[in-house]
Amino acid sequence: MRDSRENEIPHIHFKDVSFSYPGKKDNLIYKCNFSIKKAGFWMVVGKNGSGKSTLLKLINGIIKPNNGIVSCKANIGMVFQDPDHQILMPNCRSELLINMNKNFNNFEITKKIGYVLDQVGLTGFEKRPIHTLSGGQKQRLTIACALISNRNFILLDEPTALLDQNSQLKVLKTIKNLTTDNDNPLSALWITHRYEELIYADAVAELKNGILSNWQEPSNFKNN
Ligand SMILES: Nc1ncnc2c1ncn2[C@@H]1O[C@H](COP(=O)(O)OP(=O)(O)OP(=O)(O)O)[C@@H](O)[C@H]1O
Ligand SMILES: [Mg+2]
Repeated sequence: MRDSRENEIPHIHFKDVSFSYPGKKDNLIYKCNFSIKKAGFWMVVGKNGSGKSTLLKLINGIIKPNNGIVSCKANIGMVFQDPDHQILMPNCRSELLINMNKNFNNFEITKKIGYVLDQVGLTGFEKRPIHTLSGGQKQRLTIACALISNRNFILLDEPTALLDQNSQLKVLKTIKNLTTDNDNPLSALWITHRYEELIYADAVAELKNGILSNWQEPSNFKNN
């Protein structure tokens, strides 16, 4: 069903990337090198103000590095901290519809909407008004929107920051399932300051004092 992702291998590559905002003399990101070349659940952890959101803006091209090269061959979808800043329409179906990038007939539309809602654990939610959804359900709808527009790489900027623990787990497990799908696994880069989330990742890097660490096993972070 996620047809256009087939045979595509999304990848992101940073080579000696440095960045500072105008007027700031210190680099917020300094000589950053990393690659993501295969599907999976990748996490970057860092404290408040460490530059996590800036790193995502560099990846999706909203800002350009002062030095170095950003190479991004991926069809990127974004999930932000507050789904209310992202969802525009009054119900799940209409929100998904505006994220579909091709003209399908009604039968195909209904099938695709049903499929992506299943994928994020929102089976039967097609007609649900947005205001009746919990924060976690709204976050899973934004993930479904990325899926229905055939994004092959999802960047999630602290998607659980506003959620209670139960919703936090459901969103984490949704991404875990999508990134471990046997047929067509998704790539996801999840930004967090919550160290307890790292155990769900395939690999973790820490952003600290402008430096991004190498990819590491999540278990390396259990004492933080
Ligand atoms: N557009 C901007 N112009 C100038 N400075 C900025 C801009 N955006 C962010 N900054 C500064 O850059 C630093 C890092 O910001 P960033 O939002 O990337 O951090 P973060 O790790 O995502 O923080 P948080 O955990 O609070 O989301 C902060 O000191 C912030 O004030
Ligand atoms: Mg941020």
